Order: sequence, then C-alpha cells, then structure tokens
Amino acid sequence: MQVHATIADVRAARTAMGVQRVAVVPTMGNLHAGHISLMRQAREYADVVMATIFVNRLQFRPGEDFEKYPRTFAADCAQLEAAGVDHLFAPVEAEMYPQPQTYYVEPPPEQADILDGEFRPGHFRGMATVVLKLLQITQPDTALFGKKDYQQLMVIRNMVADFNLPIQIIGGETVRAEDGLALSSRNGYLSTAERIEAPRLFQVITKVAAAVRAGNLDYKQLEQEAMVQLQVHGWLPEYVALRKKLDLQCAPAHDSGLVVLAAARLGSTRLIDNLEV
Ligand code: PAJ
Repeated sequence: MQVHATIADVRAARTAMGVQRVAVVPTMGNLHAGHISLMRQAREYADVVMATIFVNRLQFRPGEDFEKYPRTFAADCAQLEAAGVDHLFAPVEAEMYPQPQTYYVEPPPEQADILDGEFRPGHFRGMATVVLKLLQITQPDTALFGKKDYQQLMVIRNMVADFNLPIQIIGGETVRAEDGLALSSRNGYLSTAERIEAPRLFQVITKVAAAVRAGNLDYKQLEQEAMVQLQVHGWLPEYVALRKKLDLQCAPAHDSGLVVLAAARLGSTRLIDNLEV
C-alpha cells in the first residue's frame, strides 16, 4: 500500500492512475470490521481502492471527543494492507487546513439541523466540508460510506448531486458485533458494564421496526415507548425517530420506505444506530 501524507503526493498518484476506476473510502481511522467491509466493497467498483484517514476537527463541537478520538495509525495501516487497499491518504491537519477554513458547505437546515444535527449543531456542515475537500483531492469515480451514519450518507448524496460531482455514492450495510451492537470507534469508550448494556439500542429499534412491519401506525407512540425503554435502563436517549429513508423527513402513516434512527448516551458515550424497516 502506498501512503500519501500530502495533497501533492496523492494528486500525483491519482494522475498516474489514468483511466483506471478509482474508489475512495473516507474514514477517521481507528478502523474496525465496518470500515474494512467498505474497503472490500470498494473493490467491486474499482481497479484502485483508496482509503483516507483524517480526524476532522471541523465536524466536532467544542466539548466533543476530538482530542480523545482514538488515533491508531500503525494498526490501521496493517488492517488496510490486509484488506488489499492500494493507496492511503493520511494528511496532518496543517495539510488540510493550512489556514483556518473560510468557505464551507452549508447543508440545508431541513437535512442538517434535524436528528443528529439537532444535538450536534454544525456537525454536518463540518463533515460535508471535509468530504467535499477529500473528494476534490482524491478525484474518485466512486465513494463509499456506511449506512451506520444514515444522515451523513443522505447529506453526502445530496451534496454530490447538488454540486454535480461526477462521483457514484455507494452506501454500505452496517456491520455489527454478534450481540447486535453496531461497530463504532466510540464503542471503545464503553466500560465493561456499559458494553454489556449497549446492544439494547439495536434491540429497541429492532422492536420498533418489527411493530411497523406488523402494521402498527402509531409512530409517535412507538418512538416514545422506545425512548422510555432506554431511559429505564439508564440511558439518556436523544431521539428515536421513524422517518422516510430518502430525506429523513417525518413520515405519514402508511408510508413505505421507512427507517428508524436513534441516538442515546450511555454514561459519557454517545451511540447512534438505525434500521431500515
Ligand atoms: P468514520 O466514523 O471513521 O467512518 C468512516 C466510514 O465508515 C463512514 O462512512 C461510516 O458510516 C462507516 N462505518 C462506521 N461504522 C460502520 C459499521 N459498523 N458498518 C459499516 N460502516 C461503518 O464517518 C466518518 O468517519 C467521517 O464523518 C468522515 C465521512 C470520514 C468525514 O470526516
């Protein structure tokens, strides 16, 4: 695997790839099987698979976990090598932001200020800005993102469409631990007791999805019951919401194509998950 630390270096490598099909998988590192499944899927779309690792300060709020976000570069490289990734772009902060960023991608409030955006104001603006930069730098034909971050995937799809970027966006299925917990770099923050409790988030949204499939149309009550389930087990739920898959807006009853999304704090760790109905 070729490792590029600078934009000039990765651009030169991209030029040398010529007409080969290139797929990129952007990450913040601390890689797990969820990331690696995207790397392997990327191979289906491309001759050259490229990963990026960059912990993007712009998408973290003051007081969030930017500083303590796990940085495990050597182990990440070993995993990428083993997965057959061809190129890695891993810039330092001064390479991506030589001066403070002044231009931003401003996703529309109805997409970016709901759900996760309500609890992490500015998150999607910072995320979309760095993803646009990474796509401009790496110039892929295809880019892959996980459905684990469902709202992120929607924002990126809409950004790419609105800015006419000639890039195919692929959404990968969520990879889970055996007990159902969605793999996440933030799972490493959980204590032993919290890790045992953590699969409840998936259990709760699974119940909501099953109730909707069985014909229950009282979405408000299903959401409320799920929040209470989490609360009584010591969680601080932020939202459990049944939404339309396409735009994550509220769904009228009878709507097909729904997804149930949830975010909740367990101790000091914020976990998110979702399930298509
Ligand atoms: P990060 O959290 O490192 O995730 C990188 C990619 O892996 C994202 O597309 C995410 O949805 C996907 N992913 C995470 N956990 C997954 C799982 N259990 N199964 C499948 N895919 C999973 O998301 C980001 O980084 C950043 O916001 C980024 C897009 C890189 C911009 O900074």
